[in-house]
Amino acid sequence: MGSEKLEKARKYEAEHEANMTDVQRPGFHLSVQVGWMNDPNGFSYYNGQYHLFYQYHPYSSYWGPMHWGHAVSKDLLHWEYLPVALAPDESYDKDGCFSGSAVALEDGRHLLMYTGVVNEEMPDGTVKGVQTQCIAIGDGIDYEKYEGNPVLDERQLPEGGDRFEFRDPKIWQQPDGTFRCVAGNCDGDRDGQILLYSSDDALHWKFEKILLRNNDRLGKMWECPDFFELDGKQVLLTSPQDMLPQGLEYHNGNGTVCFIGTYDERTETFQEESNQAVDYGIDFYAPQTVLAPDGRRIMIGWMQNWDTCNFYTFNQPWFGQMSIPRELSVKNGRLIQTPVRELNELRKNKVAYENLTFSGTMQLGGIKGRKVDMEVTLRPGDAKNLYQKFWIRFAQNDKYFTSLSFRPYESVLKVDRKFSGSRRAIIHQRRSQVRSENGCIKLRLILDNFSMEVFVNDGEHVMAATVHTDLSADGISFIADGSVSMDIVKYDL
Ligand code: FRU
Repeated sequence: MGSEKLEKARKYEAEHEANMTDVQRPGFHLSVQVGWMNDPNGFSYYNGQYHLFYQYHPYSSYWGPMHWGHAVSKDLLHWEYLPVALAPDESYDKDGCFSGSAVALEDGRHLLMYTGVVNEEMPDGTVKGVQTQCIAIGDGIDYEKYEGNPVLDERQLPEGGDRFEFRDPKIWQQPDGTFRCVAGNCDGDRDGQILLYSSDDALHWKFEKILLRNNDRLGKMWECPDFFELDGKQVLLTSPQDMLPQGLEYHNGNGTVCFIGTYDERTETFQEESNQAVDYGIDFYAPQTVLAPDGRRIMIGWMQNWDTCNFYTFNQPWFGQMSIPRELSVKNGRLIQTPVRELNELRKNKVAYENLTFSGTMQLGGIKGRKVDMEVTLRPGDAKNLYQKFWIRFAQNDKYFTSLSFRPYESVLKVDRKFSGSRRAIIHQRRSQVRSENGCIKLRLILDNFSMEVFVNDGEHVMAATVHTDLSADGISFIADGSVSMDIVKYDL
């Protein structure tokens, strides 16, 4: 039996979920059962299904003492909630069970590795959480915390490593059966670094090395690392806090970074070759990946933004949703992301148009909806006279819309939800440099009730944003300043 805190949370979510039948939610993106959700945790394939846990505060739509919510799915799109898996109920995690990961053990058990937080009062009266890494082992529903917790604490930090900024272990098993994990940390100058640990049994851990240092380049603390081989390259994902902008690549605030490089397995050395943003939109953070049984590397992120998430006037008893799960690959030194192919199974009511040449504003029969998969292939309508700008407006009614706009001369794509009905002065626009030649570009737009994600040129760039416009606003229109020609293939989802 779980602790009192866990039982209370389980009872609470069961009661409240029963009252939430007529609540509007995303259709195929995982949202929280009740209350608040942030990072994806413990993304793993165990006993024939995907398990996804998440940072969870069931008792309000705001961040609070962190639990681990839990859902399972066979196709990553239809999710079933399971009872909350972890509550902050031990002396070493009493102020929160922060982010972490999971592995399926060879003996059939499921192991979770997470960050336990214990608040400590500072001499100036402020409170900071000491962060350690902990283990819980279970059967896919109930998890028991390991009696030897915490398994990593300040004693396994490198010199200068900050014990208040030490979190989000991502565990994996090596081909030789031993385990590794990476965790986010700050050095003495509050500069981010990723730590590598090793273990024979996933319970007793040893510090190996600092895998990568920020050296004051990309933000401060590095949260939620992930580390894996992909298409002959090695990928390190992390989510830095307190970023400064760099052109259109990185923006202010919390961001997501993908380092691509090589890995020397013998010396366990990561050699960085390049870095790029993972998502160029407004709402995406703390992604985590799973290796699917068929070998695909699939990533899911929290589709929110820490700087804006507390400012919504969104009248729902839930807050927070995940991105669409994305299949990853590396091509020409860049991270490529495409919606999981399982999404194709949800497609219905195909509507297609070819070689539509127009300028001005256009609406098309059959093209509307808030749960939509639409691919637009755009070309100039007049090769000698390139169009100036192209827009797709969606979630549109007489009053509101969100838009994607593309400027071929600058090759910049912009998402803009300023007119989506928000009454808050928060970030509503973001631009991405994309690849296009002579005004040709391909956009795949995924709409799901309260979000939009656009995959550019088969996944070279991705932009995600939440959109809280009332669901009755389901119009889609196209606008061209100059002449464009386009093909459209659209499905309802
Ligand atoms: C990232 C994060 C993690 C932490 C969790 C707390 O969004 O700050 O570093 O574990 O959220 O909820």
